[in-house]
Amino acid sequence: MTERILIIGAAGQIGSELCSALRSLYGIENVIASDINTLNQSLVEAGPFEIIDATNFNQIKDCVEKYQVDTIYLLAAMLSATAEKAPKQAWDLNMESLFHVLNLAKDGVIKKVFWPSSIAVFGPSTPKQNTPQHTIMEPTTVYGISKQVGERWCEYYHKKYNVDVRSLRYPGIISYKTLPGGGTTDYAIDIFHKAITDKHYNCFLDANCTLPMMYMDDAVAATIKLMHTDGDNLSIRSSYNLSAVSFSPSELAAVISKHIPNFSINYNPDFRQQIAESWPNSIEDTIARKDWGWQHQYDLETIVAEMLNGLSKHYKKQQTF
Ligand code: SER
Repeated sequence: MTERILIIGAAGQIGSELCSALRSLYGIENVIASDINTLNQSLVEAGPFEIIDATNFNQIKDCVEKYQVDTIYLLAAMLSATAEKAPKQAWDLNMESLFHVLNLAKDGVIKKVFWPSSIAVFGPSTPKQNTPQHTIMEPTTVYGISKQVGERWCEYYHKKYNVDVRSLRYPGIISYKTLPGGGTTDYAIDIFHKAITDKHYNCFLDANCTLPMMYMDDAVAATIKLMHTDGDNLSIRSSYNLSAVSFSPSELAAVISKHIPNFSINYNPDFRQQIAESWPNSIEDTIARKDWGWQHQYDLETIVAEMLNGLSKHYKKQQTF
């Protein structure tokens, strides 16, 4: 029988693109999208859709039973910047949802789980360059703490209950189809919107604040590849380091300027600068490359070209209405 998939948080930045990619692979009817509301009408109309509050165990379980789901991709989470403003809600959402899904797997109701972790699991005491898989992890954000603890629980459920849970430490993910919500790396998306609409960007991070980043297509490809790998090949059941490119706002602005010569940028760092400073500049991911053949495709130049091309079309379409 074909695998039946439930995506929790399918209206979000990663969830929405993962949903389309998984539907192309498994068929629309076999990928159930869910989110906390129906605001994303195109998602609601594109295929099976259910309202699920990720903190509500029964809503998840009912949906799993209704569609005979085997695999859950849990993408609902409160990201780093938003979580600092609502620590309790962030903790509740990020942790409760994970326990609900892990417990469904532990009880044999579902077979497989994908749960994303993040570069936010690292902190100021972590080595900043080529951060290894196994290193000091003392995160200083609520989001980072929730992801680090989540990783520990994933490994625990795997070792103790044989739960097939798989995870990636995503860097900042860059995409144009759906806006991100409340992350520190979001500047690397905002900048493209403003480059096209205003030819100017007021950046909330410092010019030289280098962070690990990845184009959405690479993130989706990595996720699907990890989920398709034979479980025996996976040596990491907490979460894999995953890397593609690293750049600073000024380096990104320089490449954008090659396409939009009159583009300008100024820097007004806010509270997110401190969060960004606590994260690595670059990530070492040889274990992912060895265990399941991870290879990224997009470098900084191709990311910029793709982003400007995709967003220009989007804004042109808007003008015709
Ligand atoms: N992109 C996320 C954030 O900035 C990091 O995982 O919060």
